[in-house]
Amino acid sequence: MQTRRVCLIAVFCICITSILHLVFNNGVGDSHDGLSCMKTTKWDAVPEHWKLENNRRKQYAKEMCRSFGIPKPFNISDIGQITQLYVDDRHGLLFCEVPKVGCTNWKKLLLYLTHNYNYTEAMSLSQEDVHMRVLSFVTPLARFNEYGRKYRLQNYLKFMMVRHPMERVVSAYVDKLEDDHDPYLLWLGKRILKKYRKNPSEDALKTGRSVTFQEFINYLLDETKTKWGKKNIDIHWRTYDNLCHPCSIDYDVIGKYETLETDSNNILDMIGSQIRYPSFNKSSKTATFMDKYYKQLSPGIVQKIWELYRRDAEIYGYDYSVKQN
Ligand SMILES: *[C@@H]1O[C@H](CO)[C@@H](O)[C@H](O)[C@H]1NC(C)=O
Ligand SMILES: *[C@@H]1O[C@H](CO)[C@@H](O)[C@H](O)[C@H]1NC(C)=O
Ligand SMILES: *[C@@H]1O[C@H](CO)[C@@H](O)[C@H](O)[C@H]1NC(C)=O
Repeated sequence: MQTRRVCLIAVFCICITSILHLVFNNGVGDSHDGLSCMKTTKWDAVPEHWKLENNRRKQYAKEMCRSFGIPKPFNISDIGQITQLYVDDRHGLLFCEVPKVGCTNWKKLLLYLTHNYNYTEAMSLSQEDVHMRVLSFVTPLARFNEYGRKYRLQNYLKFMMVRHPMERVVSAYVDKLEDDHDPYLLWLGKRILKKYRKNPSEDALKTGRSVTFQEFINYLLDETKTKWGKKNIDIHWRTYDNLCHPCSIDYDVIGKYETLETDSNNILDMIGSQIRYPSFNKSSKTATFMDKYYKQLSPGIVQKIWELYRRDAEIYGYDYSVKQN
């Protein structure tokens, strides 16, 4: 009898809380897919000093965005503009994927969080597998109608991860062209060698291997002359601005590569998940790593790359720090 009464009171309380929550959050239930159980983000689950740092990043980004002038309006109806946004309806999470900034691990976490994969299974997927599985198992924001998209953008915990954009370019080159196992070599390597190497060997043209950083940068600069800001620029070197609209979407958390593990784990704490972001060693991808590659280029070319990514760098407080000698 006693237990039953406690149960009834508990159920009653949960109902009242849910109703109040809906009323005060303006939550007109989502008719598109019946979001009945919106989880609230627990900002008190994370350390104060981290919240301060995150607020500082957000504030700084806002000020930089303002200094750039009115952002190009972001069109929520255009699927092409929201291809990088993924949704976890169970936890009220919205992730903007930036390739080369820990996104493979976040996609693994999303496969787990959305309960389509168990943890061991998700974590053991290969990089190619992850990207394929995510396409079929993690919901892109674009899947919803305009109302569903707006609702999620307003109510979910939105986050993106960034790093120095010039370091990101190096990372893309290393992973896609220097690493012999990447399928990118087959088509992109061949294209670059054909166009930018004076007397390419037959073997180089056949395999697409041995593209130098200089050759890659020549290709990148030519590509961006005509295609910059458009959708057909490769996703690995497209700007943050273009991928995630940071001056239009008010991200709740701006994670950085330098603090990727802490930032990711705090996000997981805020949605009440016990899992952790996988540990990894960044030791080889530091500033000296970046310098090693840019040193191979002339100062004029480095300056050109900086100009391409200046806006991306400045929004997140990265400066022109490439050391030439
Ligand atoms: C937004 O995108 C939709 C779908 O692509 C298009 O029909 C509409 O004209 C766009 N609106 C603006 C203001 O560009
Ligand atoms: C996870 O999934 C794999 C493959 O479906 C299965 O073999 C394994 O037992 C599962 N692990 C747990 C802890 O459920
Ligand atoms: C990272 O590096 C440390 C020291 O170099 C090493 O002990 C550790 O096993 C490495 N961790 C991973 C995940 O590779």
